[in-house]
Amino acid sequence: MPTHKALLLVEKLGNFVVRDIETPKPGPGELLVEVKAAGVNPRDWKIQSTSMSDFVTHYPAVLGMDAAGVVKEVGVGVTGFDVADRVVYQGFYPNRQATFQQYSIAIAEVAAKGATIPLAINAAAFGLYSGKISTGELRGAGLVPVWEEGGRGKYADQPFLVIGGSSSLGQQAIQLAKLSGFNPIITTASPHNAEFLKSLGATHVIDRSAPLSTSVKAITPEPIKYVHDVVSSKETQEAAYEVVAPGGTLILVLASAIDESKADKSVTVASTFGTAHDPAQRALGVGLYKNLTQLLESGDIKPNKVEVIPNGLAGLPDGLEKLKAHKVSASKLIAQPWA
Ligand SMILES: NC(=O)c1ccc[n+]([C@@H]2O[C@H](COP(=O)([O-])OP(=O)(O)OC[C@H]3O[C@@H](n4cnc5c(N)ncnc54)[C@H](OP(=O)(O)O)[C@@H]3O)[C@@H](O)[C@H]2O)c1
Repeated sequence: MPTHKALLLVEKLGNFVVRDIETPKPGPGELLVEVKAAGVNPRDWKIQSTSMSDFVTHYPAVLGMDAAGVVKEVGVGVTGFDVADRVVYQGFYPNRQATFQQYSIAIAEVAAKGATIPLAINAAAFGLYSGKISTGELRGAGLVPVWEEGGRGKYADQPFLVIGGSSSLGQQAIQLAKLSGFNPIITTASPHNAEFLKSLGATHVIDRSAPLSTSVKAITPEPIKYVHDVVSSKETQEAAYEVVAPGGTLILVLASAIDESKADKSVTVASTFGTAHDPAQRALGVGLYKNLTQLLESGDIKPNKVEVIPNGLAGLPDGLEKLKAHKVSASKLIAQPWA
């Protein structure tokens, strides 16, 4: 039975070890991918060490939600992918779909051809373009996706505010907002990231330590109908809520900490679930991934800047600690499982 190396979280809130595990066979609609680069997300350290551990119900668990790699085997019924194609895709739980390992399974309809990981594009895109799902949950602002007819430039000359523009999500949110036509695109970050964020499409970068509301008012008198808080700490949520116009939409990436019963205005608050593997968001994910190769090739979407973690899978726990300690600014940590 073929095996490969994986980074395993041995038990809930436990330690990581590198071990050999069985290499899966791709089922119908699936690809077996040799993972060349796995992206590290805040969710990975949160699952190891916070209440987000409830997200994983089986142990030992492989984590890792993003990958770029090379197709090794194509499952029955897959069209559009061949062995040796370079692909990017979002991982998932169970273990066979997670990406902190040398081989993993990608679902072909939500994979795209590409060599660099457009990390965080999912969460940013679902925040902008997802909407109310069948349970009544509001997952995003419900805007028309840029890849759908009439989506490009649709929101011309409306202001958009991204709290945390230099984060992985923020970089993608700025670029999508630009393609959607928003202008001005205002964001908050540490000042040393200002020029980089302007190169992605931000028109104004506010120092993250400056008072938000007065800084925004100095930039535009227009009401801000859409605010995307991709940090979503209690402090940023409260500042964002203050700025969003009555009747506007606040998109969060973590659970809401806003006490809407005390609010003096009506604001729609959406909480993103940034995965194409949720059946409620699959159709949107298929649309995104069908168009992602082209968006990357044209340069309309630039992948996050990356920083490679040394020592392959064994180096990942140190990378997770670095992310947890907020020592990563404007770049995405990646691990190379074969290094
Ligand atoms: N709901 C979902 O499905 C979903 C999906 C993915 C991620 N998330 C969550 O989204 C958040 C962002 O994830 P990420 O991967 O994009 O994070 P990340 O890239 O690791 O975030 C680091 C960046 O955050 C910025 N930042 C931190 N606090 C800030 C503040 N108060 N104001 C402005 N900028 C601030 C820093 O900016 P400077 O260096 O410029 O100071 C830094 O560049 C995490 O909490 C993550 O768990 C949610």
